Amino acid sequence: MGCHSRGSHPLRQSIKSGQKHMNRITLPVETEIDYRLRWETANIPQALYGVELGEWVPYNTRTDVAWNAVHDLVGELPERRKTPENPTRRQRSLVGVGVSLCGPPGTGKTQLAVSALTTAHRIHGASIHFLRAADYVSHAHKLLDLESDRDKREANPELYQSLLNERIRVGRVSLLVVDDLGQEYTGPRGYSQNLLTQLFRRRFHRARPTIITSNHPQTDWHRYELSLPSFAKQAFPEYIVAGIDFRAEARAA
Ligand SMILES: Nc1ncnc2c1ncn2[C@@H]1O[C@H](COP(=O)(O)OP(=O)(O)OP(=O)(O)O)[C@@H](O)[C@H]1O
Ligand SMILES: [Mg+2]
Repeated sequence: MGCHSRGSHPLRQSIKSGQKHMNRITLPVETEIDYRLRWETANIPQALYGVELGEWVPYNTRTDVAWNAVHDLVGELPERRKTPENPTRRQRSLVGVGVSLCGPPGTGKTQLAVSALTTAHRIHGASIHFLRAADYVSHAHKLLDLESDRDKREANPELYQSLLNERIRVGRVSLLVVDDLGQEYTGPRGYSQNLLTQLFRRRFHRARPTIITSNHPQTDWHRYELSLPSFAKQAFPEYIVAGIDFRAEARAA
C-alpha cells in the first residue's frame, strides 16, 4: 500500500496541512474510544474488549495446537476469504475454513475466539462479529414473529431494524464467532437446529470463516443435522481446549 511513499500519501499531506491549526487547538486523539465502539458494534463481551491473540498463553500440548490453528486462521484470513489466483491444492482447501474450539467449561475457549476477532481486526482491518448461539436463535424467532405480523413490526420499528441488521451482518462479516454452540433453545421440531446449520453453510459457501466454541465435541453435532459432523470437519476443524478450569482456579484463589 501507499504507506511507504513518504510525502505523497494523501493522509500524510492532510496531516501536514492540518499542522497549522494543531498549533492553535490541541485536540485529544482518543484512539481507545474508537476501538471501544468497534468492539461494541461487533457485540464483543465487555470483559474481553481488546484481548489479543498474543496474550492467550497455551497451557498444554493440546491448547498449543489449538492456539496455532487460531493463529494460522488469523494470519491467513485474506487467503481464506478469497481464492487466490492459481491456488495450490492447500490454498483451495482452506477457502472459507475456520476452527471450532471444543472443551469443558472455563478452559478459555471464548477468550481465545474473541482474541482471534480482535487481532484479525487490528492486523487486516477485517469485519468481525461475536454472536452467542442462543442469541442467534432467539433473535431469529423474534424476527420471524415480526415478519409475520405487520402491526407488531410497525409498533417496534427499531427492534425490527436491529434484528435485520444483525441477520445481514452475521452472514457478511469476514470473521464470525458463534459462541457456546449447544446452549441454545432447540425448539420442539428441530427448527432452531436448521437455523444455525444454514448460517454455517451459507458462510462457508461464501468463503467467510467461522469460529465456533462449544462444550460438545463435533461427533455430537449430528443432532443438528446428520451430515453436520462431516461438514464441520471440513469447514471448521475441531481443536480441543481442555486441562484447566480458570473459573474454578479463580474461585479457589
Ligand atoms: N489462557 C488463559 N490464561 C489465563 N486465564 C484465561 C485464559 N483463557 C481464559 N482465561 C480466563 O478464564 C475465564 C474463563 O474463560 P472463557 O470464558 O474463555 O472459558 P470458556 O472455555 O469459554 O468457558 P465456557 O465453556 O463455560 O464458555 C475467563 O475469566 C478468562 O478471562
Ligand atoms: Mg465460553
